[in-house]
Amino acid sequence: MSGTSVDGVDAVLADCSSAPPKSLAHAYRAFSGELRVTLIQLCSPGPDEIERSGVAARELTQVYAAAIDDVLQAAGVARSAVRAIGAHGQTVRHRPHLGFSVQLNAPALLAELAGIDVVADFRSRDVAAGGQGAPLASRFHIAAFGGPLPRAVVNIGGISNLTGLPRAGAAAPVIGFDTGPGNLLLDHWMQEHFAMPFDRGGAMAASVEPDLQLLDALLEEPFFEEPPPKSSGRELFSPAWLERKMGNRKLKPATVLATLTRLTAVVIGRAVNRWFSQAADIVVCGGGARNATLLRMLETACAPRPVLASSALGVEPDQVEALAFAWLAHAHIAGQPGNVPSVTGAQGGRILGALYPT
Ligand SMILES: Nc1ncnc2c1ncn2[C@@H]1O[C@H](COP(=O)(O)OP(=O)(O)OP(=O)(O)O)[C@@H](O)[C@H]1O
Ligand SMILES: [Mg+2]
Repeated sequence: MSGTSVDGVDAVLADCSSAPPKSLAHAYRAFSGELRVTLIQLCSPGPDEIERSGVAARELTQVYAAAIDDVLQAAGVARSAVRAIGAHGQTVRHRPHLGFSVQLNAPALLAELAGIDVVADFRSRDVAAGGQGAPLASRFHIAAFGGPLPRAVVNIGGISNLTGLPRAGAAAPVIGFDTGPGNLLLDHWMQEHFAMPFDRGGAMAASVEPDLQLLDALLEEPFFEEPPPKSSGRELFSPAWLERKMGNRKLKPATVLATLTRLTAVVIGRAVNRWFSQAADIVVCGGGARNATLLRMLETACAPRPVLASSALGVEPDQVEALAFAWLAHAHIAGQPGNVPSVTGAQGGRILGALYPT
């Protein structure tokens, strides 16, 4: 799995013999600075995109293959014991309203390099069936985190998404949607102003108070008020978006960072209160779960509900998305639908992805 943060690749070895699947090992490979820049550039229009995409997809796939080697070594498991790899690819355009979502990937090359069957291109079938093609982790959230009380699961990746799980056995549909920015603007700001890849632990954001005027300006974004199903990406929440909203305000870089951190938390809190107010608690996963300042702000935004990291429920926050896509690969091979139509808005359940056999 490599998501919209464009930070690197999370690989898990998943035991799918029971539901939900269990992680046997995890490996992480950060992208080189060069590959990261290339991938981010490809998220917006530029010259010679076809050639650049072809080259970048190969480089990306080499990182996938290395992460797979790492995870097999960590688990001490032979590649011949692995039924398939689920390889999401790197989203460079997400345009469900135009009927497409593009993930850079070279699944045929991955099958060659890894010597394991590959399932790839998970989103296009849901989009073809009228859905958003996102979020797709909901099926895993239901199995891993569903319980006796209604619960909201929030994945804070580059973009944040929310799954609203009714209590187990309830007739109400599961809902889910992208709430807005997660880490992507925080990371951009840290790289631009502090030459650091991200705000480790949220220390920088904790050092100052947010600017409430800027926060209000950011909150005016119409996407936040749109009803689900909805999904988003770097197309909307770009550095240009932030610059437009900032206007000619003169603020210290740390203040802007604290404001962006608060924005992520407030937008999630509002989404919970507006669309899933029955939530008894909030489970957080994704890299944002390691940002203590963000979690503190999220507690305030979702109060009085408790906010807990997914690790409290037995799944490490940085393994959730990768496990979800391993399970989607399993579903493909088992001939089972992977999407949750009440979440994506698709006309029905669909088998997601395409198989590249070895
Ligand atoms: N120790 C940490 N402290 C603060 N933030 C962290 C820490 N570790 C990771 N992060 C944040 O998490 C991000 C990576 O999160 P993650 O991999 O879940 O996002 P993603 O790749 O966009 O995933 P997806 O789209 O699949 O949800 C980093 O870019 C960084 O912003
Ligand atoms: Mg990531």
